[in-house]
Amino acid sequence: MPKDTLSITDNRTGKDYEVPIWEDTIRAMDLRQIKVNEDDFGMMSYDPAFKNTASTKSRITLVDGENGILRYRGYPIDQLAEKSNYLEVAYLLLNGELPTKKDYNQWEYDIIHHTIIHENIRQLMQNFRYDAHPMGLLISTIAALSTFYPEAPQIQDSQVRNIQIQRLIAKMPTIAAFSYRHSRGLPFNYPDNDLSYTGNFLSMMFKMTEVKYDPNPVLERALDVLFILHADHEQNCSTNAMRSIGSSNVDPYSAMAGAAAALYGPLHGGANEAVLRMLAQIGDKKNIPDFIEKVKGGEGRLMGFGHRVYKNYDPRATIIKKVAEEVFEVTGRNPLLDIATELERIALEDDYFIERKLYPNVDFYSGIIYQAMDLPVAMFPVMFAIPRTVGWLSQWQEMLQDDEQKIARPRQVYLGEDERKFVPMDKRK
Ligand code: CMC
Repeated sequence: MPKDTLSITDNRTGKDYEVPIWEDTIRAMDLRQIKVNEDDFGMMSYDPAFKNTASTKSRITLVDGENGILRYRGYPIDQLAEKSNYLEVAYLLLNGELPTKKDYNQWEYDIIHHTIIHENIRQLMQNFRYDAHPMGLLISTIAALSTFYPEAPQIQDSQVRNIQIQRLIAKMPTIAAFSYRHSRGLPFNYPDNDLSYTGNFLSMMFKMTEVKYDPNPVLERALDVLFILHADHEQNCSTNAMRSIGSSNVDPYSAMAGAAAALYGPLHGGANEAVLRMLAQIGDKKNIPDFIEKVKGGEGRLMGFGHRVYKNYDPRATIIKKVAEEVFEVTGRNPLLDIATELERIALEDDYFIERKLYPNVDFYSGIIYQAMDLPVAMFPVMFAIPRTVGWLSQWQEMLQDDEQKIARPRQVYLGEDERKFVPMDKRK
C-alpha cells in the first residue's frame, strides 16, 4: 500500500525513520530527529545557494523550468502580456485576482496620486556625484524613503502596509527617471498624471522643452509588456533578499533597498547590462565563434544565457523577441540585434550549451530593446527594478501573512578551527 512518507535508514546507527512527504517535499526539521546519540544536534540538509530547498509556500507565481512555463496567479504570461497592462498585473499579483472595473479604476487612481516624491528626496538625489550610476542612486533613495514615512514600520497593519505598497509602486518610476536625469546632468521632470504608468515614465525620462510630452504609443505599450514580463519570478535572488530582510520585520523601504541591491548584480538584474557590454565587445558576427570558444574554455559566461530554473526556452524571451521587432519598427533596427541572433543560433547548436540546457533568458533581448529606446546601458537594471517592485512587495506581503514564517536564519556546517588559546602579538609567528 503506497504511503506519502519517506523511509530513511541511518547506516551509522542502523535506525529507521519515516518522515511525511508533502507536495514532493520533506521538512528539513524532520531530519533533526536523526541522531547518533542523545547529545547529537541532529541531522541537517546542506544546500548552498538553495538549489533544492523550498524556503516558502507561495500562491503567487509558478515557474515550471523544465517546460518553459511562467504563470502569475495561474494566468499564463503570454496571455497577460497580450491582454493586460502592468498596473492590472500588479493588482493581480498583490491581491490574487484580476480587478473589477471599479477596483481597477480605484487602484489606478491611487497609484497616480502617489507619483510625486518629497522635495527633500529630490534634493538628496541631486547631491549624488554628477555621474553616479543610476542603480546606486535608486537603491540609496529607496532606503531613504523609510525616513519620510515614520509609520512604515507598522507592517502588521494592513492599511499602513497598503499605503506603503502604493507609494513604492507609484514612486519607483519617478525615482528611476530622476536617477537617469541626474546622471545626465538634466533637470528633473515632475510626473504627469494625465499619462499612463509607462507613458508618464517616458515623459519623466525624455521630456525636454516641450510643454507636454507625447509618448509614442508603440514604445509605451512595449514598455508595459516588458514591465509585465519582469513583474515577478518567484523565489529569485532579489525576492529571496526581500523576504529574508523583511523577515526581521523591518519596514518595506529598507527591505526593498536590499532587494534592489541584490538585483544589481551581473548574475541577476545586471545581466542585461552585461549582455550589451558583451555584444559590444564581440563587435562583429565574424568574432562570434572565437568568443564562444573562450566561454567554453571558462573565460567568462555567455551573458543572457542560462537560468537556475529554466532548463528550456525562457517564455519571457519568446515574447520579448516579438516586442523587439515592434520597437525596431519605430526606432530603427539596433545593429547589435544581428550579433545577438547569430550568437543565439550558434550557441543553440553547440553541444556545450545543449548539454547544460543553456537557453536565452529574458535579459538576452531586453537590453537591445532598451538601447533602441535610447536608454543608456546603466539604466537597464533600473528598468528591471521598476516592475519587479510589485513582485517583491507581493512576496513580502505573503510572507507576513504566513504563520509558519519566522526570521530567516540558515544553519551552517562549521569547518573552522576548534577552540584554541589567544596568542599575544609578540609570540605570533
Ligand atoms: N555561459 C556559459 N556557461 C554557463 C552559463 C553561461 N551563461 N550559465 C551556466 N553555465 C555553465 C556553468 O559553467 C556550469 O558548467 P559546468 O557544469 O561545466 O561547471 C553549468 O552551466 C551550470 O552552471 P551553474 O553556474 O551551476 O548554474 P546556476 O544555476 O548556478 O546559474 C545563472 C544560473 C543564471 C547564474 C547562470 O546561468 C549565469 O551566470 N548566466 C549568465 C548571467 C545571466 O544571464 N543572468 C540572468 C538570469 S535571468 C534574469 C534574472 O532572473 O535575474
